[in-house]
This record gives sequence, C-alpha cells and structure tokens, in this order.
Amino acid sequence: MKVAILISGSGSNMVALAQSMTGDHPARPCLVLANDPDASGLAKARAMGIPTAAIDHRPFKGDRAAFETALLEPLLAAKPDFVALAGFMRVLTAGFVRQFEGRMLNIHPSLLPRYKGLNTHARAIAAGDAEAGCTVHEVTAALDDGPILGQARVPILPNDTPDSLAARVLPMEHRLYPLVLRRVATGERGPVSLP
Ligand code: GRF
Repeated sequence: MKVAILISGSGSNMVALAQSMTGDHPARPCLVLANDPDASGLAKARAMGIPTAAIDHRPFKGDRAAFETALLEPLLAAKPDFVALAGFMRVLTAGFVRQFEGRMLNIHPSLLPRYKGLNTHARAIAAGDAEAGCTVHEVTAALDDGPILGQARVPILPNDTPDSLAARVLPMEHRLYPLVLRRVATGERGPVSLP
C-alpha cells in the first residue's frame, strides 16, 4: 500500500509517519509533496530515501484551481492508495478532495470539532479550556470537518503559552498520526484515543 504525504514546512509529522511505515506495516511512503520548494521537510524525506516533489503555490497567486492541477500531476503519478496531509497549510477545493474521497487524512492541532482553522492553541488558552490536543480526521470538502479517526489530549497548564502548549501537543501528533494510519491501512475501524 502506498502513502503520499503533503507538507508545507518542517515535516515533523511526515517523519513520524514515514518512520512508522516499516516491517510488517502494510504501507510505505511513496511521495513527499510540498507546496514550498524550500520546505525543510523535503530534505528530511530525501535523507529517508523517499521520492519528493514541490509545487510552489506562489506563482499561481489566487488561482487555486491551477495550483491544484499542478499539484495533482506528481501526486497522481505516484499512484497513492492514501494521501496524508501533514502540516499542509493550503486549503484544498472540494474537487481536489473528491478525487481521494475516503483516502485522504489530515492532522489538526485541536480537539475537533473545537477550533477549526488557525491559532488553535491560543484560542483554547483564551477560552480557559482545561485541555487541548490534536485530531486525525478524514478530509472532506469542508475545512477541518471530516469523520474523526483519532484524538490525543493534553492538559492546559495555568501559565501555558501557545508555544508551550504546542510543544506538548506536537509529540502527541507524532504518536497519534502513525497509529491512525496503521489502523486505516489495516482496515481496522473505530477511533483512536490517546493517552
Ligand atoms: C504544526 O503546527 C502541527 O501542529 C500541525 O502542522 C504544523 C507543522 O507540522 N499539524 P509539521 O512539523 O510540518 O508536521
């Protein structure tokens, strides 16, 4: 089974996913695709021997459809069974998502359905929430909205800042995403909960 991973930056979730796909794991990474040629995750993928590609979204300016047409070319060429968005920061149209219906996953740094969109940790702190976390979900046309496949929770501490909270959530992402991907790849059902 082949997994394409889309990134925008450091790709720490991509590394965690790629490192988990070994041994008797039924899936292997087939492509790491970035929307920024300078994404530092690309060098990490190359160092792991994973094919990479980059389609810079900036030349396309607001033409989302043209950018997605360009993005689809290396992605479809890799013939992935699954597509994992891992720190991918571009919103994808319904038309793009529909081509991977039921086969596209995303990790979002909040306990969805709370805090869709950006600045999730700052919003959870501002709301006085007792806990925060991350969610792996199936990608649908609506942003950060598909069926939840797994969640990991961390407490919000009294003097937490968005950065200190992110520092506790990110390692949980690196545990949760590989767990969920393995379940999806082996056809197991039912959401994962951490801890
Ligand atoms: C992080 O904020 C993470 O919470 C979210 O995407 C951002 C970058 O992740 N999923 P990565 O290091 O590029 O995987």
